[in-house]
Amino acid sequence: MQLFLDTASVSEIRTMWEIGILDGVTTNPTLVAKEGRKFEEVIREICALGVPSVSAEVVATDTEGMLREGRHLRGVHPSIYVKVPMTTAGLRATRILAGEGTRVNMTLVFSATQALLAAKVGATYVSPFIGRLDDQGQDGMELIRDILEIYRRYSFPTKVLVASVRHPVHVLQAAKLGADIATMPYAVMEKLAAHPLTDSGLARFLKDWEKVPKE
Ligand code: E4P
Repeated sequence: MQLFLDTASVSEIRTMWEIGILDGVTTNPTLVAKEGRKFEEVIREICALGVPSVSAEVVATDTEGMLREGRHLRGVHPSIYVKVPMTTAGLRATRILAGEGTRVNMTLVFSATQALLAAKVGATYVSPFIGRLDDQGQDGMELIRDILEIYRRYSFPTKVLVASVRHPVHVLQAAKLGADIATMPYAVMEKLAAHPLTDSGLARFLKDWEKVPKE
């Protein structure tokens, strides 16, 4: 399974990229706004790190505007995936952009029928927001299970990008289901590597090492 960071922070991305566990980055207008910097400048810096998949979102709500922004964004860097919202205008734009060879990440997906449509118009990624579903009392992981079942049944090539991840258990469950990608905040990715028994075990080893006679 591929692991993506859901952030527009270049320093967070650089850290995980240098460790070697990062496969891609997703951004959205909220995450970009948090950085207080120009959108394209941030996107270019992220791409310059060498990250092979960087999702950048259009903000137009009509098909023509989405096409204009999408065509511009795909030209910014070869690693760009154009993020398009799941609306009828977005479906129309995705079909056209995908037909032109642009890789589209359909975002704000909250149902399996929406995911079915995203696959039909040729989206490269579909992004179901599981945390936001959990937040309102629906089981987000059930949605992932449904989408994977549908995509496998019809051999759709669209990849399932599990989004709005809140904690490591979401990542674990997504991996067990066979989701293609999970995108998560920096703090969640950090937690994937951590375990208190690793820390206490290492502390013990180092302490005992002091007792080993040295020349
Ligand atoms: C995905 O591409 C989105 O940017 C993201 O996962 C949304 O997560 P949130 O629900 O934590 O805002």
